[in-house]
Amino acid sequence: MKKWVGDSVLRVKISRPKSNIEESFTLYGDKSIAHRALILGALPKGKYKIINFPLNRDCMTTLKCMNKLGVIIRQENSTLYVSSPGYEGFNKNVGTLDCENSGTTVRLLSGVLSGIGAECTLIGDSSLSKRPMSRIEIPLLKMGANIESNNGYIPINFKECAVLEGITYELPVASAQVKSCILIAGFLSDNNTTVIEKVSTRDHTERIFKYLGADIFVNSNSNSISISRSKIMSKDFYIPGDISSAAFIIACALLGENCKVTLKNVLLNDGRIKYITLLKKMGALISIKENGIVNGENIGDISVVSSKMYGIEIEEDIIPSIIDEIPVLAVISAFSNGTTSIHGIEELKYKESNRVESIIKNLRNIGIECNIVNDTIIIHGNDSIIDKTISFESFNDHRIAMAFMAVAMRNKGCIIINNWECTDVSFPNAICYFNKFFDIRNVY
Ligand code: S3P
Repeated sequence: MKKWVGDSVLRVKISRPKSNIEESFTLYGDKSIAHRALILGALPKGKYKIINFPLNRDCMTTLKCMNKLGVIIRQENSTLYVSSPGYEGFNKNVGTLDCENSGTTVRLLSGVLSGIGAECTLIGDSSLSKRPMSRIEIPLLKMGANIESNNGYIPINFKECAVLEGITYELPVASAQVKSCILIAGFLSDNNTTVIEKVSTRDHTERIFKYLGADIFVNSNSNSISISRSKIMSKDFYIPGDISSAAFIIACALLGENCKVTLKNVLLNDGRIKYITLLKKMGALISIKENGIVNGENIGDISVVSSKMYGIEIEEDIIPSIIDEIPVLAVISAFSNGTTSIHGIEELKYKESNRVESIIKNLRNIGIECNIVNDTIIIHGNDSIIDKTISFESFNDHRIAMAFMAVAMRNKGCIIINNWECTDVSFPNAICYFNKFFDIRNVY
């Protein structure tokens, strides 16, 4: 019996990738928005629904944590029915909350827990234990939170504290998770909080606060966001299709032969579709049909056809907007003619794996010439078809596993991806999509 989810090794055996594929896909909701629909959505007291909630491991982690805080959540397929006591009624003595693999959960919840003065410990898995937490600890301490991390890593201990003080804080790293943590703590604090970004990061937190009715002001001239405690109301959410999961399907279509693929009702937030902008610069034939706005976010259909691609320069200021797509962009670059240079990749080292190392090791495994010079990944690609048996490490990183799966579109041989089960973190049923593009045979 084949068992897709949870298998430790996935062996993809392909005599030849399929060609002439014409498919239309609908994806589960965007992971970043889903976390926020649960965490921010539950701040006011009341009942609401979340439609198209992604049942991936990260979002289910947030769901379990919110449940421990006292939020009642009933799941019916991909719809959640949420009943929240509001942040004033959250359980302040929660003990330990396990954030498992999820950076978004630990960082956003830290804002909530500090803001309500909870007694709690946040823990996580071995990957999360290696990710930096001083980036949230420092501003939260400035606001008066009573927290202590393990020398900048989890576990983070939260102790009872007085109501936080608002701050003005310039982000030392371009991180939407850190920005969101401070905005949430700021919303729960006594006076105004302003966060200044040198480089813009995804703005779902700002949009959702606005959607709920909060006093939040985004100043695009000074790249700052100000928030203060205000009355907010429970509202329903529809979560648009996950653009970061769509990225892998788009890659398969582009690298394939004569494929034509449409992704329906995908998130089209400006800060999340720079991947598409870059692919177009590389020669990709992609078109977008806008379908409107739902809970403050643009959605639409993305259509892709197989294209001849060329290497490009990717500048540092765009990195936060493509941070999750860099692994798959690296794979596409490997099969594009010419050199692609990705500048300013430092933050990639602090993801679910050190993605700079994971990308380079796996690209070299294909035989692609690539290196790192200072803060730049340089990939010398060529538009070729290979015929090799290749075994890739996922490094237990969902986005690395799925990015290198796309190599199958250019390989007549067999690909093995170790520890495929980590893809549960964002895209549990990815296999059902990938097997439209190539035959996935033996699963061990
Ligand atoms: C996320 C922000 C990004 C991204 C992560 C999700 C979010 O992290 O890599 O997958 O939901 O805010 P950073 O903001 O820390 O770069």
